[in-house]
Amino acid sequence: MDFEKLYSERALSMRASEIRELLKISQQPEIISFAGGLPSPDSFPLDIIRKITKEILENDGEKALQYGPTEGLMELREIFAEYLKKDGITATYENVLVTVGSQEALDLTAKVFINKGDVVICGLPSYIGGINAYRAIQSRLEGIPLDNDGMAVSLLEDRIKELQKNGHTLKMIYIIPTFQNPAGVVLSEDRRKHLVEIAQKYHLIIVEDDPYSKLRFEGKSLKSIKTYDDNVLYLTTFSKILSPGFRVAFVVGPKEVIRKLVIAKQSTDLCGPVLPQLISYHFIKDNHVDKHIPLITKMYKRKKDIMMETMEQYFPPGIEWTHPQGGMFSWVRLPESINTMIMFQDALKEKVAYVHGAAFYVDGSGTNTMRLNFSNPSDEKIEEGIKRLAMVIKRNLK
Ligand SMILES: Cc1ncc(COP(=O)(O)O)c(C=O)c1O
Repeated sequence: MDFEKLYSERALSMRASEIRELLKISQQPEIISFAGGLPSPDSFPLDIIRKITKEILENDGEKALQYGPTEGLMELREIFAEYLKKDGITATYENVLVTVGSQEALDLTAKVFINKGDVVICGLPSYIGGINAYRAIQSRLEGIPLDNDGMAVSLLEDRIKELQKNGHTLKMIYIIPTFQNPAGVVLSEDRRKHLVEIAQKYHLIIVEDDPYSKLRFEGKSLKSIKTYDDNVLYLTTFSKILSPGFRVAFVVGPKEVIRKLVIAKQSTDLCGPVLPQLISYHFIKDNHVDKHIPLITKMYKRKKDIMMETMEQYFPPGIEWTHPQGGMFSWVRLPESINTMIMFQDALKEKVAYVHGAAFYVDGSGTNTMRLNFSNPSDEKIEEGIKRLAMVIKRNLK
């Protein structure tokens, strides 16, 4: 059968995540990979999870193995709403939807808000899974450049006016304000406020994707964009602070929007798996979250420092990179003459991998950039991998 003729327009517009494809190559054991966005395996609180799981299976086993509500377990929604108060976010369980990873939340927001051709504004660069979720629904993605203070919000209003003048329907701003993936930068407080003003003025939904703010190892925390406007859809996940394999994440938003997202979720997967939700609930209830996070940030600061020091020592002149205060990534800018997608083959020969930057740019630019992950490789591998990468870069500069 000629399936190509049968695929929907939507399926034809979908693209494979370049990172997922890369991961397949870079997971070969001899390759040192800075490509993925994986937490360190040493960050998983295995003993605590073992204990909690045993207790759940003994006391609540039937519930753990049954279907659950589409919204997520009531006790988890309640305790999470309570937990958010510490971050200045006011919510009740009715404002909280539990999703199968933030990736599902991105997909649901796309389904619920976006018609073909609607404009979604995102960072230039931006998280590839977000780009792909909005692209799959045939939105028009418009990128706003980033600098060291995150998205250049001052450019936003003119771009909005121009798009409106050309007859486009604008719906959404998709932003990762804290330790941005891929760039590692943080949106400044002034820009957070300005962004909210613009979104209110032009009736745009802000989707604030926040997997990383808890992973701050230096500097001062900033309030989330959600604290400035209740209409913001705030997405966060347990993937980076507990376990990505649990696929437990949260959308916090106005009740009526949560209701729509729930209906969309019903046709996606009925409900998320119950056992990981129960484990997550006990993890919060027994006060493990705030005890566990400092263990992770201490580890990631050390890894980040090793990466920065080794780059400083071995990278040739003319190369810039971000010095993140948290999260998992540094963003490297090479001279324009280097195309990191082409250089990747050479890197593989030296058994080192990264993600080439153009994958994160909706306008195809960024060909001289790359993303490096420091959370997943061991300390020794970070040092060795950066030395190998330095060699590859030097060779490609010639
Ligand atoms: C910015 C961003 N959003 C969403 C996700 C998806 O996370 P989850 O594991 O919760 O689906 C990631 C994962 O790396 C991410 O970096």
